[in-house]
Amino acid sequence: MGRKKKSRNEARRADKYALYQRAVQVPESDVSFLRRIFKRRFGRPARSLREDFCGTAALCCSWVEAHSKNLAFGVDLDPEPLNWGRENNLELLRKKDERRVELFEGDVLEVSHEKVDVTVAFNFSFFLFKTRPELVRYFRKARTTLKDEGLFVLDVFGGSEAYRAMEETTDHGDFTYCWEQARYEPISNELLCHIHFEFADGSRLKKAFTYDWRLWSIRELRELLTEAGFSKTEVYWEGTDTSTWEGNGVFTHRKSADDDPAFVAYIAAVR
Ligand SMILES: C[S@@+](CC[C@H](N)C(=O)[O-])C[C@H]1O[C@@H](n2cnc3c(N)ncnc32)[C@H](O)[C@@H]1O
Repeated sequence: MGRKKKSRNEARRADKYALYQRAVQVPESDVSFLRRIFKRRFGRPARSLREDFCGTAALCCSWVEAHSKNLAFGVDLDPEPLNWGRENNLELLRKKDERRVELFEGDVLEVSHEKVDVTVAFNFSFFLFKTRPELVRYFRKARTTLKDEGLFVLDVFGGSEAYRAMEETTDHGDFTYCWEQARYEPISNELLCHIHFEFADGSRLKKAFTYDWRLWSIRELRELLTEAGFSKTEVYWEGTDTSTWEGNGVFTHRKSADDDPAFVAYIAAVR
């Protein structure tokens, strides 16, 4: 017992889902991006969203808050983040908004409900499908979730820094977010990643989240989306803030881009 144990307990008190949301997600930006690209393509607002791999359903919540006619369906295998999301995200919504979110505990390959305008798979979650047949099967399923006028939107990261072991930290004031690429294996093109959180008292929440992924390139993904039946795919590339040379959070439709050692992009596939 004693001082060391008492002082080094921030990590034990920490809520990994709350930290994840603060460090990783900006659902409001995702919602405005999705609304913008859908409206531009179909000339009408998107009203219904399916969030595959929804975790705590932060995007579903932001979606229903954005408009009183918006509906959201979240799908995740794991009851733990779903329950956290119910207690912490859905509970914070106004009752009339909360009623328009439905969460499903189940496999994205299995769960069905009414068809939607937009289905998303964000935070690279589909990287867990490691073979072409598995990924095409998922893309085919995603296509069936859409109305005739529908968009399936994925995010993807890449660039030379994706293909190596590395660790990167970001200071969030009361905690530090640590993204670790623990192992890159070039023959399988697989990447093992962890998220850790570090605190001012020196304590560390190690491996709060672990991802065992295959890295897919934009070109491969577009080819597989076409194979799965999507009629068209478009890539949205992030602009650069010329004062920091970091991404500026503004994504525009592009046919080609300059080399970038660490990019995040969106692919929008038209049903
Ligand atoms: C990287 S997290 C994504 C969380 C959230 N979508 C985000 O954008 O941050 C991946 C989530 O996918 C879920 N998951 C993994 N395989 C799944 C499957 N086959 N069907 C449904 N959910 C799955 C995990 O339980 C986990 O919550």
